[in-house]
Amino acid sequence: MKVCVVGSGGREHALATVLGRHHDVVVTPGNPGIPGSVDTPATAIEADLYVIGPEAPLVAGLADELRAAGRLVFGPGADGARLEGSKAWMKQVLVDAGVPTARHGTFTTADPAYAFLDTLDGLYVVKTDGLAAGKGVVVTTDLAEARAAVDEYLSGAAFGDAGRTLVIEEGLTGPELSVLAVCDGTRAVALAPAQDFKRVGDGDAGPNTGGMGAYSPVPVAGDDVVAMVMEEGVAPTLSALRDLGIDYRGVLYAGLMLTPSGPKMLEYNVRFGDPETQVVLPRLTSDLGELLAAAAAGAIDRAPTFDDGAAVTVVCAAEGYPRDVRTGDVIDGLDAARGVDGVSVFCAGVGADAEGRLVTAGGRVLAVTGQGPDLAAARGRAYEAVGHISWPGLHHRNDIASAAVAAAGADPGGNR
Ligand code: AMP
Ligand code: GLY
Repeated sequence: MKVCVVGSGGREHALATVLGRHHDVVVTPGNPGIPGSVDTPATAIEADLYVIGPEAPLVAGLADELRAAGRLVFGPGADGARLEGSKAWMKQVLVDAGVPTARHGTFTTADPAYAFLDTLDGLYVVKTDGLAAGKGVVVTTDLAEARAAVDEYLSGAAFGDAGRTLVIEEGLTGPELSVLAVCDGTRAVALAPAQDFKRVGDGDAGPNTGGMGAYSPVPVAGDDVVAMVMEEGVAPTLSALRDLGIDYRGVLYAGLMLTPSGPKMLEYNVRFGDPETQVVLPRLTSDLGELLAAAAAGAIDRAPTFDDGAAVTVVCAAEGYPRDVRTGDVIDGLDAARGVDGVSVFCAGVGADAEGRLVTAGGRVLAVTGQGPDLAAARGRAYEAVGHISWPGLHHRNDIASAAVAAAGADPGGNR
């Protein structure tokens, strides 16, 4: 098959790499670090299958446009993508489908929002309704900070129209889990679970980011937990969507918190996670193109398979990320990093300078994935490779998967 991947980040590089094991792949627009990148819009490319990476073109209806032209597309239409485009609507779908989630309210004015904050138990979560590049969420124990977020969001100062409606939730606690479900409108199959690290600094310090690293498998989320998420979360959601006339063919990314009272759905994304994709897909042992084409055609007939090993991804970010980012720094050491056994380096915010050298061009620049027989080995390889890479201001977390490795050490064999 010829597969066209839409997007330009590390997720798309990973999709292209894993699809490329069995198929011809072009990436639009891609970036100078992704082989097969072309500067042609997807609508002008002839391919057997289109895989849309980011949420923005999905929310804007690119999948609908391609389907209207008779193409086979993996990715929901604008109707389903609204799950990510509007958190208020997503919460309503969750409640209607009976999926366990945080208690919440939706607000467009400050006084009722303050009043709802006063009913919460000391951990406050304020979210923009609309898309905010993973940054429109404040989680805090400080009521004044939560109220300030309400003011900033509603005024449009922080995120424009995306914040003029907001969702306030009770704060939940526990390990987080990402389950990416591949859906064909009726059926869904789970990819291997992953855990993402959202905060910029070690020990979960600092502001939220798009994701600073990930690992898979997740020792606290065995097959039973994933099965429960599929049965009690994804399946009722797909069926609620069908009741609304939405034929959802794409990834339903379930972002969960494993709370003391069971898994609760924090959010859905309507696409592959970034950097979860860079840690989950390299472990796939079946044909990704075949799976996504079957989903796009409404005809999934088998579950994907994964290796028994582990993978750890460490994101290398540019100076300033997640705030104002400096770009244009030459990236050194890529070849040496790629020379480490079991390592793949995926290019995200990467450009090229006048001499054709790869330079930083965004906040999250590279995702460095190490694979090995267990999390400790995978982690060691990822960080060994990261050690070869440099540019001025590069920063990364040092503790990706470290707690899981320590727990596995304390409980040998507990790392499945
Ligand atoms: P979201 O964009 O909804 O995924 O939120 C981003 C991050 O904020 C999540 O990955 C969590 O780390 C955190 N978060 C979101 N909702 C809650 C909640 N109800 N309780 C605690 N943390 C949350
Ligand atoms: N890793 C979080 C996301 O893709 O939204």
